[in-house]
Amino acid sequence: MINSMAGMAKEAEAYLESAGKLTEESLRNYIPADSEIPGTLHSAMRYALLIGGKRLRPALAMAAYELFGGKPSESIRLAMCALEMLHTFSLIHDDLPCMDDDDFRRGKPSTHKVYGEAIAVLAGDALCIFAFELIARTGNAAVVEELAHSLGTRGMIGGQVIDVESEGKTVDLATVDYIHYHKTAALIEASLVIGALLANAKKEDLERIREFGKGIGLVFQIVDDILDIESSTETLGKSVGSDIKKGKATYPAILGLEASKQKAMELYSESLSHLEKLQGKSTNILRNIAALIIERTH
Ligand code: IPE
Ligand code: IPE
Ligand code: MG
Ligand code: MG
Ligand code: MG
Repeated sequence: MINSMAGMAKEAEAYLESAGKLTEESLRNYIPADSEIPGTLHSAMRYALLIGGKRLRPALAMAAYELFGGKPSESIRLAMCALEMLHTFSLIHDDLPCMDDDDFRRGKPSTHKVYGEAIAVLAGDALCIFAFELIARTGNAAVVEELAHSLGTRGMIGGQVIDVESEGKTVDLATVDYIHYHKTAALIEASLVIGALLANAKKEDLERIREFGKGIGLVFQIVDDILDIESSTETLGKSVGSDIKKGKATYPAILGLEASKQKAMELYSESLSHLEKLQGKSTNILRNIAALIIERTH
């Protein structure tokens, strides 16, 4: 089981690399050049986006798109870039001194350490807004709505609010579930649903892919919590021990490390059961990515 999961995770790495390359090529074209005013802002946007990152969300969108028969198109490339911009916007703001106050991201100094807080805030804002300009070009209103919903008060921002408000407090498991689902799983779910929507997936298949995304998104954040304790800053490319230092509401803080790992494994299996319901579809790539999510070391 473990061996085959490691093998699947390895295959997923290759998929993430090719989705990442495609995303980066397009991002370089879309983001205005540093020579265009305001150059500092464009430089900060490029810095945050292009210094690294696993490109998981674009890869999930591409995998769901291909699963439902989508062929290479401008629409899916726009969606992949928008997702990476939105995720990067969330990271820039998450690292600010008024949020998690973290100095390293993607193996380099955080955006605010290089460009200052004002430009970092504005680069995050600009990436968020630019992402909607790109996604609007798909001409698919359901995609725009899905994306906006996953990020707003009922999505990522809602989760970030409760995350910040829970610092240093003893909270229950339902609160941690709320935080993790909203701050992280919602965008992962949306990445999959958007890929499926752009490929015109059927309504019942959209629900299955959504349930898979919810589960695997939660697993992703539980593993993130575990890595913050068990990994190193070098491997992760971001400061470890940050959650304990800030008294964050995490799975390990509430359940302990072993029970958190157990919970991640249960959710992983449950997520796969939703994929199994997609009859007649080749779900190998998504299964490999799910294995990578639970097996990942960074
Ligand atoms: C980090 O996301 C933030 C969380 C939601 C846990 P990733 O681990 O996907 O970060 P990058 O994109 O690879 O840097
Ligand atoms: C991040 O959660 C969620 C978002 C950025 C929306 P964390 O605060 O745990 O992410 P890291 O560990 O800083 O990447
Ligand atoms: Mg945070
Ligand atoms: Mg953080
Ligand atoms: Mg974290």
